[in-house]
Amino acid sequence: MAYSLFRPLLFRLDAEQAHEMTLKILQWVPATTRLRADPVLSNVVAGLDFAAPVGLAAGFDKNGVVAHKMHALGFGFAELGTLTPLPQAGNPKPRLFRLTEDRAVINRMGFNNEGQAKAAARLSKLARRNSVIGINIGANKDAVDRTADYVTGVRAMAPFADYLTINISSPNTPGLRALQDKGALDALLAAVMQARGGDATPIFLKVAPDLEAEDIRDIADACIEHRVDALIVSNTTIARPPLKSRHAQETGGLSGAPLQAQSLQRLRDFRSVLGTAVPLISVGGISTADHAYQRIRAGASLLQLYSALVYEGPMLARTIHAGLKQRLLQDGFTNISQAIGIDA
Ligand code: FNR
Repeated sequence: MAYSLFRPLLFRLDAEQAHEMTLKILQWVPATTRLRADPVLSNVVAGLDFAAPVGLAAGFDKNGVVAHKMHALGFGFAELGTLTPLPQAGNPKPRLFRLTEDRAVINRMGFNNEGQAKAAARLSKLARRNSVIGINIGANKDAVDRTADYVTGVRAMAPFADYLTINISSPNTPGLRALQDKGALDALLAAVMQARGGDATPIFLKVAPDLEAEDIRDIADACIEHRVDALIVSNTTIARPPLKSRHAQETGGLSGAPLQAQSLQRLRDFRSVLGTAVPLISVGGISTADHAYQRIRAGASLLQLYSALVYEGPMLARTIHAGLKQRLLQDGFTNISQAIGIDA
């Protein structure tokens, strides 16, 4: 069924119920075939082969029930999580809001997830991975030692991940984003890299968009010093640009169209301090091939999206890939890697 027909039905449900129903439907997607690498769109980042650059952002599949199937919808990779060491209920409902007039979402889910042991048991049953799977890890809300939770996560989830994302940027776990501060980030990354040990699972770091110039310099320095394999820019924002929806003042992280400009700016900021030292993954408000191409040219090696799926439907990655390929070829590039950072 075309998504334009299905969407009004989904939108009649409360946002979280609609999301749960979407996950149930996606479980019927067969996960057999590999996504064929496109000669123009495929790229190697952090030593991993990405068949195509648009991936599914974290938060859509917190527990890893459909991430391994998303390549069947055209995603080049998928990041599941955030998973915390222990299961966690998250914040009271309602905690997820569609801002339809703004093509945006506000969420204060609060890391609701089944915990790492259950996810690991599920992932261990997959025969093999047919596309790149990242696992995003976080700390439990009432953890006494947050750094220890990330160390636990690295050890528990590395066997099932092509890469791990250290998420220190959710606005919905009080105090979590303080881990982005210089001293705390140094200690965290040192501990995480030590926990990774000889196992060379690439470590990605995911940051918030609400950062000052000094924060950006400190985070960039820490990424270089601790040899972070890629930086994901960015999570949702606590800022509230002008919005039309009645849900505009809900507490939580804002994503989708109103995040687009801020997320693009943070990408440019990090590119200007990092150059090509650390690959960048751009996420926030991407919904068209033009957005995708702009981010690539601004320095992103890969892209992720979530909120636009709510408004555009499950074929969005495919549509963006087709448009992106056309734009690259039009401008004389034979592979995406030639266009990364060309405007930086
Ligand atoms: C998220 N996001 C998110 N990120 C993360 O690292 N861990 C998580 O658990 C979640 N959970 C989550 C839930 C919901 C409902 C949304 C909408 C988002 C953030 C997400 O991965 C992404 O960084 C932002 O949403 C910005 O991208 P989009 O949505 O504008 O494409």
